[in-house]
Amino acid sequence: MPWHRKHLLTIEELSLAEIGQIHATAAAFKAILQRNEKKVPALRGKTIVNLFHEPSTRTRLAFEMAAKRLSADVISFDAASSSTQKGETLRDTAQNIQALNADMIVLRHGASGSPLYLSRLLDIPVVNAGDGAHEHPTQGLLDTFTMVEHLGSLRGRKVVILGDVLFSRVARSNIHALTKMGAAVTLVGPSTLVPAWFEDFGVTVSHDLKSALADAEVVMLLRIQHERQVSSHFPSLGEYTSVFGLNRTRAAWLNPRAIIMHPGPINRGVEIDSELADGPRSVILEQVSNGIAIRMAVLYLCAGGQPESVVSATE
Ligand code: CP
Repeated sequence: MPWHRKHLLTIEELSLAEIGQIHATAAAFKAILQRNEKKVPALRGKTIVNLFHEPSTRTRLAFEMAAKRLSADVISFDAASSSTQKGETLRDTAQNIQALNADMIVLRHGASGSPLYLSRLLDIPVVNAGDGAHEHPTQGLLDTFTMVEHLGSLRGRKVVILGDVLFSRVARSNIHALTKMGAAVTLVGPSTLVPAWFEDFGVTVSHDLKSALADAEVVMLLRIQHERQVSSHFPSLGEYTSVFGLNRTRAAWLNPRAIIMHPGPINRGVEIDSELADGPRSVILEQVSNGIAIRMAVLYLCAGGQPESVVSATE
């Protein structure tokens, strides 16, 4: 099946086959990079603009690395030192970037739906690097890619997502990807951050950490998203940690071969203890590394590449 999407806006709109195409393309790029080929010519001559209106370390650097590995020129836009500070709108900013001959925009923005808005306005591809509490599709793709590397097929696998689900775009993208891939997803946390209506997404909601962690093969921790909460959703961070923080005792409730994941940035000692974040079951830095191959795949496909042409595009 040929790849036909110009934009990557959400995982919700992707089919299982399209998720598989992105994963397969990322695996091909990862294999090429592991042969010590730092650069391939797939996007030579293209200019990609990273338009980030919210802070980022991993996503922005991984998109930059991915674009450079594909031989594209990449420019990172810093909203704090741009004419956004003089009141320029997102629409005007994006249309000016297109007028400057950019070939693609990678957008991170606090407003849910902003990538869709730009995709309807511009002629060039738009890739969502996180929009409000809505979606973070490349994070969901790299997370599921990492899970598959460790577990094989995710069909029937028990995956626990623990923490601030309500405000998490990472959780939403993972929920869409994991349910399409057949995983059994359980969301855990206080009822204020994990409301029962999430069951409409085809997942289980639990507020009992011990029973939720029993036999889980993956536990994904989420940071408390203070920047999106307009009021307090629990009495204090200390109380959150005392009930829902992952520590050595609670990690023992997991399946013995379970992996521990976190999209970052980590609040050490809040949602996870350092000995687990840095321990042998943690795949947190593997997630970060896989972010390059996944973003290479997304940039390559949205620029018009085809999954089966990766090898010829890299010669
Ligand atoms: N996981 C993630 O999106 O991290 P950054 O905010 O640092 O990009």
